Amino acid sequence: MNNSLFTEFTKKGFVKIKLDKKYMRSYKTLKNNIRKNFPKNFKKNKFENLHNVISFNEINSLRMKIIKNINTEKNLKENIYLSAKGFLDQLLGADIIVQKNINLAIQMPHDTSRPLFHKDTPLSSKYEVVVWIPLVDCDKSMCMTMIDKKHHDEANKLFDNLNRNSDFKFEKFSKLKGSNFPVKFGEALIFSTDNFHYIPINETKKTRWSLNIRFKNLFTPFGERNLLDYFEILKTSPITNLLNN
Ligand SMILES: [Fe+2]
Repeated sequence: MNNSLFTEFTKKGFVKIKLDKKYMRSYKTLKNNIRKNFPKNFKKNKFENLHNVISFNEINSLRMKIIKNINTEKNLKENIYLSAKGFLDQLLGADIIVQKNINLAIQMPHDTSRPLFHKDTPLSSKYEVVVWIPLVDCDKSMCMTMIDKKHHDEANKLFDNLNRNSDFKFEKFSKLKGSNFPVKFGEALIFSTDNFHYIPINETKKTRWSLNIRFKNLFTPFGERNLLDYFEILKTSPITNLLNN
């Protein structure tokens, strides 16, 4: 695994990686299954064109149904892990736990409903990483805006005087200081849960589809998201196995 990726991650709190091609079949199968299970929404349509057949009012209930469906996909979590294994193993160590439920976000053009500027801690512990995987090629405002660690003190100050102009303040800050870069299908963005991120309004003509799932080392502190409710064990080291036998 390329060491400069770790240097970049340590410096900024996020990094883009290429997923292992061997496991891309699993993502393609997932997309085919979504198409098959929700045919009404894909008549002559690509994933990027979902907004042509569905309204803002309907999108959330469809998203919830697809999430339920995705989470019945056999071995998908394991395959997501395997597709990023080279990076995750070196980042987290030998004892790894994974979020039980894979999340799906669908961001249609001009939909204003989305999470505001935030970081996932303290709900998540600082020892977790989010693996964000687009199911379509993402460019410009389809992508998330990541805030480099060096701008976090400034970002924290934005929360000092929250008022009705705050949305605008966060947007302006993200445009000025944030990193927005293309992430294609076959790549993933990995970021620390303690990293600020911002989701711009999608001003492109394409719908963004992305999965997100968290990983952490079993033996690091937990936030409110705990092992029993939120995570499950993915793999353990021989010494852990020895002590548990
Ligand atoms: Fe988040």
